[in-house]
Amino acid sequence: MERIAIYPGSFDPLTYGHLNIIERGRLLFDKLIVAVAHNTAKKTFFDFEERLQILREVLKDIDKVEVDGFEGLLVEYAEKKKASVILRGIRTVSDFEYEFQMALANKMLNPSLETVFMMTDARYSYLSSTLIKEIVRFGGSVSSMVPPLVEEKLKEKFRKILQEDNR
Ligand code: PNS
Repeated sequence: MERIAIYPGSFDPLTYGHLNIIERGRLLFDKLIVAVAHNTAKKTFFDFEERLQILREVLKDIDKVEVDGFEGLLVEYAEKKKASVILRGIRTVSDFEYEFQMALANKMLNPSLETVFMMTDARYSYLSSTLIKEIVRFGGSVSSMVPPLVEEKLKEKFRKILQEDNR
């Protein structure tokens, strides 16, 4: 039986920390579906289509990795995709509480679905999408934190926001 895992997230935006989990995670499964959440609890900087498009472009040549979007409950989406594992990255102890809660809630909703955690590589454990957006907003470089396309899209979007504010 094909072992399919889902790596879900907001990816707002995709960082080298996420990419590190994808690169390592895909080696553990027959297929890894990177699933962009449509309705996250958070208000996102990039809309759903933008996030999806960025992921599709950046991950297009990575073997065994598929990019998709989902709406609604993750467990239902996992069932539809015949996935048996949810993959999540953990950077620091502070991630643990949120991840623990989510894993237990998902387990309650579907006991046959396992959540597997991977520690993010130490090089990226300080990275967060929020931090990255703040650095770009104030004109800093994030080239060591995100793929070139993501940096380009971040700068483009902040430029647009600034132009609109100055109107
Ligand atoms: O990158 P994020 O924001 O930490 O990802 C969180 C995400 C999208 C994985 C989580 O919010 C999610 O699974 N949302 C889908 C709705 C759902 O199933 N919620 C219950 C999870 S316990």
